[in-house]
Amino acid sequence: MIVLEELTKSFGPRTLWEGLTLTVEPGRMLALVGASGSGKTTLLNCMGLLDEPSSGRILFGGADLLRLGHGGRRRFRRNHLGYLFQDYALIENATVRANLDVARRRRAGADHAGALARVGLAGREKERVHHLSGGERQRVALARLMVKQPSLVLADEPTGALDSCNGAMVVDVLRRMSRRGCAVVIATHDDRVRGACDTAFDVHARREVGG
Ligand SMILES: Nc1ncnc2c1ncn2[C@@H]1O[C@H](COP(=O)(O)OP(=O)(O)OP(=O)(O)O)[C@@H](O)[C@H]1O
Ligand SMILES: [Mg+2]
Repeated sequence: MIVLEELTKSFGPRTLWEGLTLTVEPGRMLALVGASGSGKTTLLNCMGLLDEPSSGRILFGGADLLRLGHGGRRRFRRNHLGYLFQDYALIENATVRANLDVARRRRAGADHAGALARVGLAGREKERVHHLSGGERQRVALARLMVKQPSLVLADEPTGALDSCNGAMVVDVLRRMSRRGCAVVIATHDDRVRGACDTAFDVHARREVGG
């Protein structure tokens, strides 16, 4: 479970949001919605410790993530966090298999072939990522999440670059991860994604607005 308490974020004189309070339970899938520029990506980045809120607390497993030191932050990312970025964040000059290896936790029995088959990329382990199309890269990133089995997934417009069939597949995979007890947060402008989530949270209004 991740709990955001009274989060505020300002860039200079401009306040994106203040007093933002939100809980995402394990097994829940939440859409972050709001107009372009309302701060959805910034909020995901704060939850993933890639950006710092100006004030407030982010509790995960009872601990305030913002008070963790360098090692604690690294452990949180490595052991618990899965991230689907808009720009995939894959290692371009490596093979598909090497990119999936990066995600592997030592204790996870990683099923690379199964994850690749699930995202429609069966048998493509040896290809280099820079030869893949945008949508294929997004699906490698998704397969990497399936291999990692994180307890918290943060996804930024994960269907933005995909056709509707692959977009539906992404949502389906994230839904399955949430059913296994993962907390999933998806920033999206896509009504189908929003409809597939349990609830939606409007970053601008700072409240839940229904699924
Ligand atoms: N490092 C920064 N310095 C100053 N302003 C920033 C910085 N990062 C983001 N912003 C501003 O914060 C606002 C929110 O940006 P953000 O990317 O979080 O919006 P968003 O809701 O994800 O939008 P979109 O739906 O277009 O992806 C924007 O106006 C952006 O210019
Ligand atoms: Mg954004």
